[in-house]
Formats: sequence, C-alpha cells, structure tokens
Amino acid sequence: MTAPAAPAVTPELVARYDRPGPRYTSYPTAIEFNGSFGSDQYAERLAEADARAGEPLSVYTHIPFCAERCSFCGCHVIASPLGARVTEPYLARLFREIQLVADALPHRRTVAQYHWGGGTPTYLSAAEIHALLDHFQRYFSFAPGAEIAIEVDPRVTTAAQLEALHSRGFNRLSLGVQDLDPRVQEAIGRVQPVPVTAATVEEAHRLGFRGINVDLIYGLPHQTSASFARTLDSVIALSPDRLAIYSFAFLPWLKGNQKKLGEEALPAGDAKIALLLLARDKLLAAGYRAIGMDHFAKPDDELALALDQGRLTRNFMGYSVQDASDMIGLGVSAIGRVSGAYSQNHKKLSDYYADLEASRFPVERGYALSADDRVRADVIHSLMCTFAVDTTAIERRHGVEFAAYFGPELVQLGELAAQGLVWMEPGRIRATTLGQLFVRNLAMCFDRYLAAAERSARPRFSRTV
Ligand SMILES: C[S@@+](CC[C@H](N)C(=O)[O-])C[C@H]1O[C@@H](n2cnc3c(N)ncnc32)[C@H](O)[C@@H]1O
Ligand code: SF4
Repeated sequence: MTAPAAPAVTPELVARYDRPGPRYTSYPTAIEFNGSFGSDQYAERLAEADARAGEPLSVYTHIPFCAERCSFCGCHVIASPLGARVTEPYLARLFREIQLVADALPHRRTVAQYHWGGGTPTYLSAAEIHALLDHFQRYFSFAPGAEIAIEVDPRVTTAAQLEALHSRGFNRLSLGVQDLDPRVQEAIGRVQPVPVTAATVEEAHRLGFRGINVDLIYGLPHQTSASFARTLDSVIALSPDRLAIYSFAFLPWLKGNQKKLGEEALPAGDAKIALLLLARDKLLAAGYRAIGMDHFAKPDDELALALDQGRLTRNFMGYSVQDASDMIGLGVSAIGRVSGAYSQNHKKLSDYYADLEASRFPVERGYALSADDRVRADVIHSLMCTFAVDTTAIERRHGVEFAAYFGPELVQLGELAAQGLVWMEPGRIRATTLGQLFVRNLAMCFDRYLAAAERSARPRFSRTV
C-alpha cells in the first residue's frame, strides 16, 4: 500500500500544530528528573553497569565556559573572560569526577563514543586539551574506530587547538555557525564573518578531520528566505559532511539572555517553517540526505549509513550513530544514562565542586525509567529517528499488545491521520512527508507526562514549529 500524497503546509495547519513541545532528546524529558535520584542511586546504577564487563561506553564531557554569551543561546553556559582562572579549578574537579567514575567501573574502561560539548570546549587552551585527555586516558581507552567528537566555535578556535585535537584522535568537529547574514548575526550577538568559519573548515580539512558538521538555526530574528538562501549557499560551498538545521528554541522566560532579542523580528510560524523547507530543498539538491527532523548528511557519511542500517539513534547530543548501552555524563550540568536511569549533574558550579571535594558523585537529580516509560521511549525514539513505528516489533520487545496498550494515543493519532500527517496500516505507523515536519507533535501523542507539563503557566518547551 502506498501512503496518500501529503497536503501542503498552510498557515492554518501551522497555526493548529505550532505549540510548545519537547525535542525528545530523551523520554521522559529532563523536566521529569527529580531529587529522589541522587549520588547514591547513581552509584548503584554504575555498579550494575560495571557488571556488564567489557561493554563499550559512551562518554559526554561538558565544558561550560564561553568568552561571551550569545543572545540566542539556550545551552548551559558560564560566560567568563577569565580563561585559565576559571578552567584550572574546573579541570581539577573534572579530573576528580573522572577518577570517581573510573573507580566505580573497573570492568568498563573502553569508550566507543566520546564527545566534548558546551559551552565552548575550545575555551580550553591546547595545553589544557592535552591535560584533560591525559587524565581521561589514564583510566579509559578508546575502542578501535571510536567516534571522538567536539563542538567548536570558529570565532575562538585556533590552529594550535585543532592540531592538538587531531593529534589526540578527535575525528569529528561540530562548528557553530547559526547564520551568516550580518544583520542576523548582529541581532543574535554573534558576529562571525564568513572567512572565520571558512578558515576553521579549511584548517580542519588540511589536518585530515573526516567528519565536519555545521550547525545552523532557522527562525532567528531578521532571517528571510532570501538571507537564509545566501547562508545556505555559502555553507554548502564549504562542503561540510553534515549539517544540523535547528529550529530556534525561544524561551526568554527561562533563558534571560534571549530577552535582548526583539520578538517582533522573529519570523512567524509559517515563515519559519518556510525556512526549513528552503534548507531542505537546497540541501537535497546539493546531494545531502535528510536525517531525522533536523539533520542532513552526505550519502557516505556515517549518519546516512546508520539511517540505512537501522543504527540511527537520538540522545542528548541530537542524532548520532547507535550509542553504547550506557552513557556517562561528566562535568557541570552533564546528563548521562546508566543502567536504565538518567542522571544530571549539578547546574551550579559551587554545588558541583562541593560534591567532588567530598568525593561524592555530583548528581543533582535523575530519573529511573519504569516499564511504561521504556515502551513509550522506544515508540518515540523510533518516530524521531525513522518517522515510523514498527508496532509488531514494539509488541515483541516489550510484551504488550500495541492497540490495547495505546488505545487513547491511537485515537489522537487518528486525528492527525485525518489531517494527512500520519499513515496507519497493520503493524506500522508512518509519518507522511508533511507529518515529518510535525514529528514532535506525533511523538507528543505517546508522551504520558505532557498533559501535566502543559498545565504549567509558562511553557518549559520550545514551539514545535
Ligand atoms: C552548545 S552550542 C556549542 C557550540 C559553540 N559554543 C558555538 O557556539 O559554536 C551547540 C549548538 O546548539 C545550538 N543552539 C544553541 N542555542 C539554541 C537555541 N536557542 N535554539 C536552537 N539551537 C540552539 C547552536 O546551533 C549551537 O551551535
Ligand atoms: S552559542 Fe556557543 S558560544 Fe554562544 S553562548 Fe551558546 S555555547 Fe556559548
């Protein structure tokens, strides 16, 4: 059976579905994490993980510092001009955390995925990059072919830092670009002339990095189809292996720095989605493949291969290739997932430091998944990665009868089917081409916690368009 042709994106359709909703980098989302899961519970989960001796790990390390805060940014950032005066004490605590985790995992010391995110990891000097890796590799080793990735801000990243990263085995660079139009850059407090980005890409190519990603954002102030088309053309000319085209998450009541942005300059819902469609057309025409809701990759890139081979996954870092069964989060505010539980480190530097000084895991909150959470997480993950759900496979994996288990959810989904967003057939649910643009709305049908979150006065999630 072929799916019916999808209706066009109309302003009415956008108005109907453009509402606050999670991006589902986890299910349940981080707002369900709570203080009943702390340091002791994390220690128990690590002990369970250690029993799966020899299985590789995924490790995320958060470096929170940025020289200045961009006014659009939604990440956990500490803006500081102090350089080594803030990084030295931070690295000392981070080293302690690495040692505590390593002591808890004597039989799990191989890492298949290693990611430095931020903030700006290249806030660290080349010498500090070496020191952090020296310390980490004293305890952990990289599996052959490990994915070793870092987020770099081209405005502050030097050739010496890139050289240090390359010499230590980093093979993926993700460059923050956002938009290349001078007016947009001015409005978002991030002036980054094209030659600055181009120089970082050229230097990375010269050194032999094989995986370069560029982050762009649609929905920023003053973006128009004409200006974004120019940005896309310039970025395509740099030939990155991947692009992430993120929807601008605008939450000024949660992110004070965004209050500086003039709301009136933001493109409205239908104009915003037109920017995504424009990016999609241009990138497909340039030979990229669409991956999930906001990524694009060259056909020979690992992400495109993972999609074809059913290894595409989604976690706190966005889309990636199948990660290890356990993901360790290191650093202030870092999130991990170990033995079926999420954990998040303290967001305040002083709390993070205090726990480590007392040789305690610096866990502020977390969440242990129930059996129901696991079924729903599987369905949502499948929708977000493949735009489809194999309901028979869900039944097999979780021992449930899909139609009986998800009665009310299927009624809700039926309404979306009537709008041409989803196609239901025996054993399979599939988003239409149109529904793929609203995949967060489809996933929201299966989210048990959403109703409560939606009752809160100020939305905790960005809008789905
Ligand atoms: C943590 S930043 C790290 C990159 C690095 N600090 C830089 O700016 O180049 C990772 C990415 O998150 C994305 N991002 C940050 N704030 C966002 C927001 N409010 N909405 C959508 N994406 C956002 C940006 O695309 C950014 O490149
Ligand atoms: S976008 Fe990057 S550089 Fe700007 S504040 Fe956020 S993390 Fe820092």
